[in-house]
Amino acid sequence: MVDLSVKIGKLRLKNPVMVASGTWGIEYDELTETDLIGAVVLKTITLEERSGNLPPRIAETASGMLNSIGLENKGVEDFIRNKLPAMSGLEAPIVVSIAGDDEKQFSRLARSLSRFARVNALEVNLSCPNIKYGLSEGLIAQDEKATYRVVKAVRAATDLTVIVKLSPNVTDIGKIAKAAEAAGADALSVANTFIAMAVDVDTWKPKLGNVTGGLSGPAIKPLSLRAVWEAAKKTSVPIIGIGGIMNASDAVEFMLCGASAVQVGTANFVNPQTPAEIVKGLEIYMKKRGIKNIKSLIGSLKMG
Ligand SMILES: Cc1cc2nc3c(=O)[nH]c(=O)nc-3n(C[C@H](O)[C@H](O)[C@H](O)COP(=O)(O)O)c2cc1C
Repeated sequence: MVDLSVKIGKLRLKNPVMVASGTWGIEYDELTETDLIGAVVLKTITLEERSGNLPPRIAETASGMLNSIGLENKGVEDFIRNKLPAMSGLEAPIVVSIAGDDEKQFSRLARSLSRFARVNALEVNLSCPNIKYGLSEGLIAQDEKATYRVVKAVRAATDLTVIVKLSPNVTDIGKIAKAAEAAGADALSVANTFIAMAVDVDTWKPKLGNVTGGLSGPAIKPLSLRAVWEAAKKTSVPIIGIGGIMNASDAVEFMLCGASAVQVGTANFVNPQTPAEIVKGLEIYMKKRGIKNIKSLIGSLKMG
């Protein structure tokens, strides 16, 4: 028997494989062995309904994809009334992803979701425009002070495990990671998509209605891996590695660089069974090498 369990804040996961926000929904439950997965992170919700960005919102790129969904969702009340009850049968812990324009919206979301036993943790998505702090084009996750204030407000509003999802679109992710940790984050998700674009050479137009979008998939794996490595060096909270993970060896790479768990996103669109297959693959990897406890991989990269 190998021990695949890990701890993320107060959350005990039977294995370190999670599905990433926006890439899994309860409709997928029939297509996947969801019971094998460590946890599911749901698509980001906001206080009010949002219609999202102009279409087209998806474009394929070499070894990846661009998306500019723009946080389309029906708002927290609809989530509580219609979505959450539909998930009562799920065995995997549920992590609810939240986003807002400022710390007040984040803390209202955190408070209202904390009343439900089926919400096992919150993931604070900081890849939203930093309206309040005056960076017209910037994201909350690009600003240390804004990150600190939002995380602090969420921390004060809930006893649930608070996972803070960072953006890789920064000069020094270590600084932002430290700000989130200082404000009370229990764990960090590293990271969201890389801002990018693609152009149609027949129409001379951008392929996305929003012009730019987030790049995900295998194309970003080496970049995300480096972001995890940098964040892990600067903080002591558990890190959840995200970016282009397609198989068990990708997951091992992230864990060796300091991740305690991983999230699988784009791979779900190729094969919704990927997270379950990664769980099985990790077990095989460990048995082959006589590794009894997966925790021994975390941050064990050998230097020199
Ligand atoms: C179609 C799509 C929708 C996404 N929606 C969200 C979202 O609502 N909230 C969020 O935090 N991340 C969202 N993401 C980002 C993923 O959770 C993940 O951080 C990113 O795709 C990198 O991982 P991957 O390369 O495994 O896909 C989305 C990604 C995709 C491809």
